[in-house]
Amino acid sequence: MTTVPIKTYEYDRPQAGLACTAEAWARVPSAPELAERTELKKRIRRLLKERGAVLVAHYYVDGDLQDLAEETGGCVSDSLEMARFGRDHAANTLVVAGVRFMGETAKILSPEKTILMPDLDATCSLDLGCPADEFAAFCDQHPDRTVVVYANTSAAVKARADWMVTSSIGLDIVAELHAQGKKILWAPDRHLGSYIQSKTGADMLLWQGSCLVHDEFKGVELDLLKAEYPLAKVLVHPESPANVVAQADVVGSTTQLINAAQTLDATHFIVATDNGILHKMRMAAPGKTFIEAPTAGNSATCKSCAHCPWMAMNGLRNLAAVLENGNNEVLVEPEIGIKAKRAIDRMLDFAAAKRAKALPSGKLENNAPMFSGVGPA
Ligand code: 13P
Ligand code: SF4
Repeated sequence: MTTVPIKTYEYDRPQAGLACTAEAWARVPSAPELAERTELKKRIRRLLKERGAVLVAHYYVDGDLQDLAEETGGCVSDSLEMARFGRDHAANTLVVAGVRFMGETAKILSPEKTILMPDLDATCSLDLGCPADEFAAFCDQHPDRTVVVYANTSAAVKARADWMVTSSIGLDIVAELHAQGKKILWAPDRHLGSYIQSKTGADMLLWQGSCLVHDEFKGVELDLLKAEYPLAKVLVHPESPANVVAQADVVGSTTQLINAAQTLDATHFIVATDNGILHKMRMAAPGKTFIEAPTAGNSATCKSCAHCPWMAMNGLRNLAAVLENGNNEVLVEPEIGIKAKRAIDRMLDFAAAKRAKALPSGKLENNAPMFSGVGPA
């Protein structure tokens, strides 16, 4: 197995004197008071109807946005299901409450639709840490490798890839490529890449990016916390460091972790992913107790404290505003979009085939969880 580490890319470069994470935190909208909140929610419901728009949200965004998505016939889900749902929905306008790569994926899959986002500057440290020109040069140096990129990348990076994967299906796809004798060039998340490499034994060359939220979970402190709650199950997103993943009972995408919280026979869970997920976990498993895994967050030094600043930029006010004025449309250069779509389609076709195989009828059942979990540690 070859791993040739490349230099770590510093995503949090100061721009105009302010690091990009600080800039994002500064733009996180304040929480509206109850009366304004109620009025905004009412306005959003009406505007979604008037525009014939559907709201597609991620589990890390504000709980109100998640609830609105569900109650208005949209969806709240992980990246894979957000992509599939947006592509298959008949609405002409999709409003994506999440981060930029999610809006771009929706546009690439449905170029004829209007894709709006509450804030177009909601990015992701993995995306920032994998600039398209440097990535293309890296790929050019390794023409013998199949290029597999994580969803958390720009359209231009996806355009250079053979496959795009998300956390819920990356392991299955790399296992399949490995079985076909392929060597992999993986980007950008080093922790997810190492995890998949360790589970599949595939030959993977890893880009050294990371997620600022998950990178901050701490293995030693988690071990201590587990000692305090010996019966708790540990749920970990695979963007976390190896010494955190190693302590997991379940490693999986956000949807898979919520399913585990619901189905596992335990009353207490330690959760190593963005704390926005707790909103849905509490709804899915009422009566169970969820404890945040330790980050550097108890001191003032952490950049995320288990919450993504870019996900936090989505709020009720900017959501209502884009529905009203149609601003913040996500655009992808058509030539790049066409190339990127091949990599995304491959993943969606793989997922659909796997789901179809899993059903005795051979029919697709879109609402069913496709994969029971990425797996235990
Ligand atoms: P999921 O696909 O598991 O929802 O992950 C998206 C993400 O950005 C995690 O940080
Ligand atoms: Fe990116 Fe991490 Fe935020 Fe997910 S949580 S969008 S991986 S920075």
